[in-house]
Amino acid sequence: MTVYGVGLGPGEAELVTVRGKRVLDSVETVYSPGRLSRTVAREYVPESKLGDLDFPMTRDPEKLRSAWREAASVVAETAADGDVAFVTLGDPNVYSTFGHLRRTLSAFHPAVDVEVVPGVSAMTAFATALGVEIEAGTGLSLREAADGAAPTGPDRLILFKVTDAETTHEKLTDAGYDVQYGRRLFMEQGETVVTSDPTDVAERDYYTLAYAEKQGVDRDVATAKFEEESA
Ligand SMILES: C[S@@+](CC[C@H](N)C(=O)[O-])C[C@H]1O[C@@H](n2cnc3c(N)ncnc32)[C@H](O)[C@@H]1O
Repeated sequence: MTVYGVGLGPGEAELVTVRGKRVLDSVETVYSPGRLSRTVAREYVPESKLGDLDFPMTRDPEKLRSAWREAASVVAETAADGDVAFVTLGDPNVYSTFGHLRRTLSAFHPAVDVEVVPGVSAMTAFATALGVEIEAGTGLSLREAADGAAPTGPDRLILFKVTDAETTHEKLTDAGYDVQYGRRLFMEQGETVVTSDPTDVAERDYYTLAYAEKQGVDRDVATAKFEEESA
């Protein structure tokens, strides 16, 4: 039997893919790593199909390993009798808890088949939500920026886990970037915020990202000329 890693998208039930929904309909049991992913899954999955796993709120690698060994053995046992899904927000292969499950299954339950159903990641959804176009030919880097961190260097950056926006903002603007923030983008739970003012997102909320662009970067695309002419 198969364990499916299903990406649910950023949080709106409508952004679950057709394939993701089909897999959720077809499996016997659906596990979710958190409250938000569970809420989205609940739109398509009856409560009776939702499985329980304990997920540790720890960074201690020993405790993490032991919790994932336990979770993987529960999932593998359930998968012996029928297909199983493990849902994550966004995409299962982008900064996701699913990686822990996949590695642990592969190490201790190698007979279990694993398949991934990609989801709409915040990594791409941010562009629409923030009204940003990543033009053909330009580079875009993904980094984490927790606790006021501000990685710099590339011309265009997406920063995940922005938990201290004001400190991150100060460092990025000092380094010559324009910055926009997006909180709870395409998410049904909580308030969506899109802003260039870090004080609007000063309160810590894990579901916050930033897009930073070096001031004065080239926009070398053929049709950009139309915008200049019609301005
Ligand atoms: C552990 S990563 C998970 C990423 C997820 N697997 C994906 O593909 O979108 C969590 C970070 O992604 C960003 N994020 C995820 N969903 C978001 C959303 N709907 N709105 C804003 N940021 C989001 C936040 O920066 C958050 O701290």
